[in-house]
Amino acid sequence: MSPNQPSPGHPTSLDPAQAADLQQRAIAVAHHAYAPYSNFRVGAAVLLADGTIVTGCNVENASYRLTTCAEQSAIAAAISQHGPAIRIRAIAVANLNSTASQPCGACRQTIHEFSTPNTLIFFPAQDGSIASTTVAELIPGAFILKK
Ligand code: THU
Repeated sequence: MSPNQPSPGHPTSLDPAQAADLQQRAIAVAHHAYAPYSNFRVGAAVLLADGTIVTGCNVENASYRLTTCAEQSAIAAAISQHGPAIRIRAIAVANLNSTASQPCGACRQTIHEFSTPNTLIFFPAQDGSIASTTVAELIPGAFILKK
C-alpha cells in the first residue's frame, strides 16, 4: 500500500464534534504545562484507535535540553496506560500563546512510531484556524529501523 493511501479501518477525517473535543482537551491540558523558561505552554491530546483519549503537556527543566514536549508526554502516558500496541488515530496539539505551531522534528518521529500513514495531526495554523495534516505528510521519510 502506498504510504499516502488510507489504510483499512482508519478514516482520513474525524467527526467534527470529535475533532473539537480533542482540541478542547489539548487546550485544557496545556494549562498544566510546566514551562517557566519558554513560557510556551503546550498541550497534546491523543485519540487512540479504540476511541480512548490521553493527554499530555510540556515539562521543562532548568537543564533546558531535558525538556519533554507535550506530544511526547501524551504518547508516553498513552503507552503507560494502554500498553505498547497502541495506534494513534489522531493527535491535537494546542498552545496557550495564540501562536501557530507544528510538532517539532523529534515529536514527528515519535508520533510516527505509533501511527498509521493517515493518522491525523491537528495544529494551530498561521491564520488562527486549526489545520490538519497526516503523519505521511508531516514526516515523509521517517526513520525506520531495519535489522
Ligand atoms: N514544545 C512542545 O511541547 N511541542 C512541540 O512540538 C514544540 C515545542 C515545547 C517545548 C518547550 O517546552 C516549548 O515548547 C518551547 O520550545
